[in-house]
Amino acid sequence: MSCNVSVSPEGMQYPIPEQEDYEREFLRIKGLVENAKVAGQEIVVVMGVGFVGAVMAAIVADTVSSDGKPSKFVIGMQRPSVRSFWKIPMINQGISPVKAEDPEVEPMIKRCVLDKRTLVATYVYDVLQFADVVIIDVQLDYHKNELGNVRNGQVEMTALEESFEVIARHIKPETLVLIETTVAPGTTEQVAFPAMKKIFRQRGIETDPLLAHSYERVMPGREYVASIRDFWRVCSGINEEARHKVVSFLNEVINTKKFPLTVLDRPIESETAKIVENSYRATILAFMDEWSTFSERNGVDIMKVIKAIRMRPTHSNMIFPGPGVGGYCLPKDGGLGVWAYKHILGFEDDIFKITPMAININDTRSLHAAQMVRDALRNMNIPIANADVLVLGASYREDVGDTRYSGSEIMIRRLSEMGAEIRVHDPYVEQWWEFTNQEEYPQVGKSVFFRNQKKLKDLEVKKDLNEALKGIMALVIAVRHETYLDLDPDNIIKIVGKPIAVIDCFGVLDDAKIKRYLELGCEVKGLGRGHIRRIKESVKRTWEEKD
Ligand SMILES: NC(=O)c1ccc[n+]([C@@H]2O[C@H](COP(=O)([O-])OP(=O)(O)OC[C@H]3O[C@@H](n4cnc5c(N)ncnc54)[C@H](O)[C@@H]3O)[C@@H](O)[C@H]2O)c1
Repeated sequence: MSCNVSVSPEGMQYPIPEQEDYEREFLRIKGLVENAKVAGQEIVVVMGVGFVGAVMAAIVADTVSSDGKPSKFVIGMQRPSVRSFWKIPMINQGISPVKAEDPEVEPMIKRCVLDKRTLVATYVYDVLQFADVVIIDVQLDYHKNELGNVRNGQVEMTALEESFEVIARHIKPETLVLIETTVAPGTTEQVAFPAMKKIFRQRGIETDPLLAHSYERVMPGREYVASIRDFWRVCSGINEEARHKVVSFLNEVINTKKFPLTVLDRPIESETAKIVENSYRATILAFMDEWSTFSERNGVDIMKVIKAIRMRPTHSNMIFPGPGVGGYCLPKDGGLGVWAYKHILGFEDDIFKITPMAININDTRSLHAAQMVRDALRNMNIPIANADVLVLGASYREDVGDTRYSGSEIMIRRLSEMGAEIRVHDPYVEQWWEFTNQEEYPQVGKSVFFRNQKKLKDLEVKKDLNEALKGIMALVIAVRHETYLDLDPDNIIKIVGKPIAVIDCFGVLDDAKIKRYLELGCEVKGLGRGHIRRIKESVKRTWEEKD
C-alpha cells in the first residue's frame, strides 16, 4: 500500500494531505466555526471518529435546543494516518465510516453533514482552539504477548498520550475535555491531568485543565445509536467546575431525562466502574466454561440448564460464552485494570485472581471448540488435515458485522494450525480484516500465536451459503446469527451431498435437529451439549430395531 493513500474498506482511495493542504483546511473549518458561532452553537471537537467517536459526533451534532434549533457544531478530528484518514472524506460526504446494522446511523450522519450542516471532519489539530468541549474517543489497546496469559501484556498508551498533549497545546483554558475512551483506572487524574497541566503552565495558563470522564456503553448492532444516546451514563469531573460542565453537557446531548446520569466523586471511580462492569461480564462468561465442559462429559445439555436457571429473576443474566468471548472491550478491559494497579497506581503486590483468570479462560475457550471439530471428524474417520471445514459466523456476537477478537478467529487459527482447509460464511461481514491485515495488526509480527497462518490472509468471507456448503466435511455453527437459527438438516445435507460433522458452538440446534442430522448419518457435537450422546444412542437403537 502506498503511504500517500488511505483506502476505505470499500476500496475508495483518498490521498493523505500534504503540508500545503493544512492551511487551506484550517481556514475552511474556521469559516464554518464562525458561522456556527453566529448561529449561537457550541463548538464540540470529537477526537477519533472510529466505532464510538463517529456515532457520538453525530449524536452531538443532532442536538437541538428548546426552540428546536441545532445547538452544537461538531468537528470530528482524526489523525491523517494511512489506516484511518479515509474516515474524514467519508464523513464530509455524509457517509458513515462505520458500518452498522442500526438503520439510524447512516441517515443521522447524512442529515447532520448535508442538511443541518452541524458536522464536519478534519485532520487539522489547530481547530482545537475553537472548541468549547473536546470529547476523546481514541482507542486504547491492551497488547497481549501470549495467548491465555493476560498478565503478560501492556497498555498501548501512545495514541491517548498524544491526544492529551495535542489538546492541551491548543484548547482554551475553559474548554471541557471529556474522556470517553475506556482507560486504565487512574489515567485521568494521574496521566492526563499532570501532562495537560504542565503544558498549560508552559502556555502561561494558571488555571487547571477541566477534565472529565464518562465511559461509553455502546453496543454494536441494531441499537447502536440508542446504546449511546438513550442509555444510562456514569460521569465524573476532576474538580467542581469540570463536574458541573460535564453534567450540563451530557444533560443536553444524552437522553438523561429517561436515563438518569450517575455522577461519581472522582474520575478514578467512573474509570473503575467501566472496568468492573466489563470484568463482571467477562467473569460470568468465563464461569460457564467449566460447567460447559462438565456438561459435555456428563450427559447434560447446558442450554437447558441455563434456561431453567434464568427463570429465577436474580439469575436472569446468565449467558453462554459460545466459542469464546470477543468484541473490543471484554477481552481487554480487565487487563487495563490489572496493569493500572501496578503501572499507574504503583502497587507492587498482586491482588488480582479472578479478573485475569476470567480473561485467560475466555481467550482460550475457542481452542476447545477447534478440538471438538477435530474429534467430530475423527469419529467419522476423517483426519483434520486438509479437511474442508465451513465456519458459520465471523463476528463476535449475533447479528453484527464486528469481528474484533471474535471466538471464530482464534478457532480458525487453531484449525488452520491443525491443517484444516477453512471456509467462512457471514451475512454481515464483507471483509475479515483481522486476517487480511494479519501481517500488521495489531502490531507487526505480534498478532498471530499459531503456526501455518499464511494462507488465512486470503480468507474470503462467503455470502452464498449454498455455494459455501458444497463438498464440505465439517460444518461449525459459531455465531447465533438469525440466518443460522432455522437451517434445515435435510436441506444442508442435500446441498453438501454426503453426511458431515456438525459442531454447534452456540446452542443453536434443538434436539429435533440434532436427531435429524444423526439420522442422516452425520456426527454431531456441541459445546456444553453432553446430551447429544443420548440422542445418538436412541437413533442407533431405532436403526437396530429396523434391521
Ligand atoms: N466499539 C465498542 O463497542 C466500544 C464500546 C464501549 C467502549 N468503547 C471504547 O471506546 C474507545 C474507542 O473505541 P472505538 O471502538 O471507537 O475505537 P476505533 O479504533 O474504532 O476508533 C478510534 C479512532 O481514533 C483515531 N485516533 C487515534 N489517535 C488519534 C489522535 N491522536 N488524534 C485523533 N484521532 C486519533 C483512530 O485513527 C481511530 O479512527 C475505546 O476506549 C473503547 O474501549 C468501545
